[in-house]
Amino acid sequence: MNYLKRLIGTAAVVASLASCVIASGHIYYPPEDEKVVEKLEQWQDLKFGLMMHWGAYSVIGVTESWTICPEDWCRGRKDEAEFQQYVADYVKLPYRFNPVKFDPDRMAAAAKDAGMRYVVFTTKHHDGFCMFDTKTTDYKITNPAYPFAANPKANISKEIFDSFRDQDFMIGAYFSKSDWHSPWYWHKDFPVVDRNVNYNPKRYPNLWNNFIDYTSTQIDELMSDYGKIDLLWLDGGQVQKKPSTRFSKNSKLYDQDIKIGEIVRKAREKQPGLISVDREVVGREQNYLTPEQRIPDHYIGVPWETCMTISGAWSHVPNDTYKSTTTIIHNLCDIVAKGGSYLLNVAPMANGDLEPVAWERLREIGEWMDKNSEAIYGTRPIRPYRSGDYAFTQKDQSVYAIYLFEQLSGQVNIPYTKDIKSVKLLGEDIQLTWVIKGNFIEVVLPSDFDKKSHAWVFQIN
Ligand code: GLC
Repeated sequence: MNYLKRLIGTAAVVASLASCVIASGHIYYPPEDEKVVEKLEQWQDLKFGLMMHWGAYSVIGVTESWTICPEDWCRGRKDEAEFQQYVADYVKLPYRFNPVKFDPDRMAAAAKDAGMRYVVFTTKHHDGFCMFDTKTTDYKITNPAYPFAANPKANISKEIFDSFRDQDFMIGAYFSKSDWHSPWYWHKDFPVVDRNVNYNPKRYPNLWNNFIDYTSTQIDELMSDYGKIDLLWLDGGQVQKKPSTRFSKNSKLYDQDIKIGEIVRKAREKQPGLISVDREVVGREQNYLTPEQRIPDHYIGVPWETCMTISGAWSHVPNDTYKSTTTIIHNLCDIVAKGGSYLLNVAPMANGDLEPVAWERLREIGEWMDKNSEAIYGTRPIRPYRSGDYAFTQKDQSVYAIYLFEQLSGQVNIPYTKDIKSVKLLGEDIQLTWVIKGNFIEVVLPSDFDKKSHAWVFQIN
């Protein structure tokens, strides 16, 4: 009887998931729109993108948005009065935000030289401050009351998108569905207890419909007036039809159905093939998965991207510790070998410049990419994906064994033995001798070869 029940249960699950794929425990709905399928395929060739979290919060060098959220982990030890004062001051930060060193052409050129091929920029983060010239609110970078509005580059999102597009980047708009400035999300008549909407949308449909309009108008502006947009990267996973305890620390679980399917459908009328990343929301609008600050253990057979900070925080926080160039390159290779893309976040400072160390990292990554990027771009995963210090990729007739180790001399054993005709070391004009021994190719380097890099690529044909 139990067995029968289980069988019926399983059949029901299979039926209801009929059009989805389950990969490493993730439910993924492949896109049906052919243009989206095509763009997603192109995006999967790019592998390496730049993310930038930048907003008025950068003025005081704190974590993006979260310091105004009353969840315990955000507000620190402030008592209620201190917290309220903090929030009141925070809202005024745009009066002090004047990034006169903002140079999007320089950013785009540096990202391009680093080997990055797409950009995702925070057009609006959870705090609701718009880094674009919306008509829906005055809480925006182009409000004449704020100092930067007079700058010719005031419409920051547009400037960034234009500069990166000039460098052939795919253009991604990060957009937070939750908006802690909108009166339709955190309504003044109700207490704010956590990141969620602070009233029941079912009970106050008028308020909620205003919020849907507000959101959908802003997204429509971004899709209409900012040139070609390739990716809509939607954050604020709690804003979805199916409430999740994961996001609700203090509040009741409310259905926050923002009608995202409709918003994305409309967006695609203006931006055919637009990739929609409704992150952490299972469904058709999540065209790829987005593990955050971590790299999955294994190959994942559906499109995915790790977003990760180059330092500790997403936004610019003074004296933050930056990852080493070697770590960043190893992460990139690890991710690509497992079938993903690497979206590396580098945060601009309040004045619009990047930290010297950030420019330096981008330059160093670029030096490595100059020699080795053929093992990255346009590749697809191949077994064994990862094995010990090796990451594997493939393209055309080649398999690339990337040795994630700095020092190279003597002999290496590559755990790969299929159909080998030649073995070459990318970027070095040297002769290798090799022989297959058991499960390895034993490669011997010239006796005088002893060099350091971040990682070494053996091209196997
Ligand atoms: C985390 C942060 C959020 C940030 C996002 C980027 O969810 O809380 O602020 O925008 O990561 O992936």
